[in-house]
Amino acid sequence: MVIDLSSKCALITGGGRGIGREIALTLANTKCSVAVSDIDIEAARGTAREIEALGVKSLAVKADAANADEVNTMFKVVMEHMGSLDILINNAGITRDTLLIRMKEEDWDLVLKVNLKSAFLCSKEAAKIMVKARSGKIINIASIVGLMGNYGQANYSASKAGLIGLTKTTAKELATRSITVNAIAPGFIKTAMTDTLSDAEKQKLLEKIPMQKLGTAADVAHTVLFLASSLADYITGQVLTVDGGLVM
Ligand SMILES: NC(=O)c1ccc[n+]([C@@H]2O[C@H](COP(=O)([O-])OP(=O)(O)OC[C@H]3O[C@@H](n4cnc5c(N)ncnc54)[C@H](O)[C@@H]3O)[C@@H](O)[C@H]2O)c1
Repeated sequence: MVIDLSSKCALITGGGRGIGREIALTLANTKCSVAVSDIDIEAARGTAREIEALGVKSLAVKADAANADEVNTMFKVVMEHMGSLDILINNAGITRDTLLIRMKEEDWDLVLKVNLKSAFLCSKEAAKIMVKARSGKIINIASIVGLMGNYGQANYSASKAGLIGLTKTTAKELATRSITVNAIAPGFIKTAMTDTLSDAEKQKLLEKIPMQKLGTAADVAHTVLFLASSLADYITGQVLTVDGGLVM
């Protein structure tokens, strides 16, 4: 069965680069229209141009996904230009790593705001549209550290564990309207976020990953594509790890 999302429209936060950009392009390859939002508008425009080059409708929107006013405006602009919203991918995320005893309150607050509050704000707006349509897919990009914790990531792992709780509650609340809500928990994926790891840190990591390699943004994007398609219509409230077997 070939996945065809040509009648669908998706919105992705943090779609300007990394995993978000790859997800946007993967959806566009199935002819899905994609609105790309990011705080970095030039990056979002870059992804939108790549999508348009595929002959698929796209839109770049500048929005801080953690700011309620900007999120409300973003949804208005998306509905005006795209006409519908079938798929939301809450992907925007940041890290501010350090050990708990050194972690500043502002770094705790910022990571929780960008990684968790953003998904609450965007899911709420998307749910209003999807409930009326009686269908929709919401996919939250969490992380395996939300399941297992990680040194130096008290803020980040708490935000991702929170995202998993949000996923399950939203899934329950929206299930009767044929809206599915799932989380993907990537392991260690080769992106700008993991490029900051030293060779020694990477080597230590690889020893723990049964498949002995980092994942790629495409590995995550293909899982999003599955969950966004009708192949996954009966799957909701789940956390799918994409991690080479690290968590099992
Ligand atoms: N890279 C990994 O190994 C890995 C592993 C597990 C989970 N993840 C998660 O995947 C997602 C994407 O990660 P990535 O590695 O591609 O990161 P990245 O830093 O390469 O890209 C993140 C994008 O989000 C944008 N962004 C940041 N704050 C924003 C905000 N407030 N509003 C809107 N956009 C914002 C950035 O401008 C950037 O374009 C994140 O949620 C991250 O936590 C990544």
